[in-house]
Amino acid sequence: MKNGLKDAWGHSFYVGAAVNSSVLADKKCDELIKQHFSSLTTENSMKFVCIHPEEKVWNWAETDNVINYAKKNNLAMRGHTMVWHNQVPQWVFLDGNETVSKNLLFKRLEDHIATLTQRYGDYIYSWDVINEAIDVDKGDENNFRLSDWYKIGGKEVFEFAFKCMRQACPEAKLYYNDYNNETGKKMETTIKYISSLLDAGIPVDGIGIQGHWYYNHPNEKILKNALDSYSALGINIELTEVDVSVYEWGTAKEKADFFTSKPQDRMLEQAKRYHEIFNIASEYSSVKNITTWGLADNYTWLDDFPVKERKNWPLLFDEELNEKSVVADLIDCGNKKKTGN
Ligand code: GLA
Repeated sequence: MKNGLKDAWGHSFYVGAAVNSSVLADKKCDELIKQHFSSLTTENSMKFVCIHPEEKVWNWAETDNVINYAKKNNLAMRGHTMVWHNQVPQWVFLDGNETVSKNLLFKRLEDHIATLTQRYGDYIYSWDVINEAIDVDKGDENNFRLSDWYKIGGKEVFEFAFKCMRQACPEAKLYYNDYNNETGKKMETTIKYISSLLDAGIPVDGIGIQGHWYYNHPNEKILKNALDSYSALGINIELTEVDVSVYEWGTAKEKADFFTSKPQDRMLEQAKRYHEIFNIASEYSSVKNITTWGLADNYTWLDDFPVKERKNWPLLFDEELNEKSVVADLIDCGNKKKTGN
């Protein structure tokens, strides 16, 4: 097997991808994963609504399949995600027709965590325990998102989740994961929040920076500042969902403004971003994983978000599953770092 990203960067961090079973079943994808990646995340199947849609129903097949593939191919696994406002079934928050009590919500969460970690806890090395609990635009005065979890369970529900997770899988690394947390008010708020958890003895091991980024963001300064600031808390960092959009946030909403083919100037900018991300991250011993949200441009959630049916090309491999030129550059850069040249 040819040298891949995972070999070039293994001295610094895992290189991961979010996948599902149909990706793994595709021969070319399978080859790419084996050559380049050392870590996997289930794209959807471990989310509450997928794996535990009803109180007594558990859907294991899809996650089992991904984890068995990971085991067979010696790939690390990230667990994604326990407490999130999205993709969670309504039964969790209901008791009959009434809103569930705080006590029962905690009990349900405890059971959910216990059952899920009993099945996968010995293999998954890091978990996104909480996803996106902070909302600096529409949150409350403490910038907590007004999710059902928070409205019913208060901020204690997040603390409880971390504690349950530590008890259930003491070896695993426990992460708080979020988007837009590499700069600005979101970063400030996140740092304050994580510090307060650490001060209170809540077992948080790391920050997940999702990294849904753009061809022109983040620049080196922003990225370094984020990695410096989070490292200073004494926690680990994983870039958990990286993709580099060819559009800026909020632009090109009308069909007339969509690119109809890969915009070459933006692909060059994108390559620069990827180079900086890997290169800068490797300067921090706190960074343990860089995972892309998907494998190749033939299948990306950004084709439908934030604008429906707008093609995007945000990943390291193109629509035909071929390496973009940045992959060779990244391998070269990682190999040089490895040998100190
Ligand atoms: C968020 C979630 C992921 C995924 C992506 C987009 O960042 O954490 O699980 O849903 O959005 O697909």
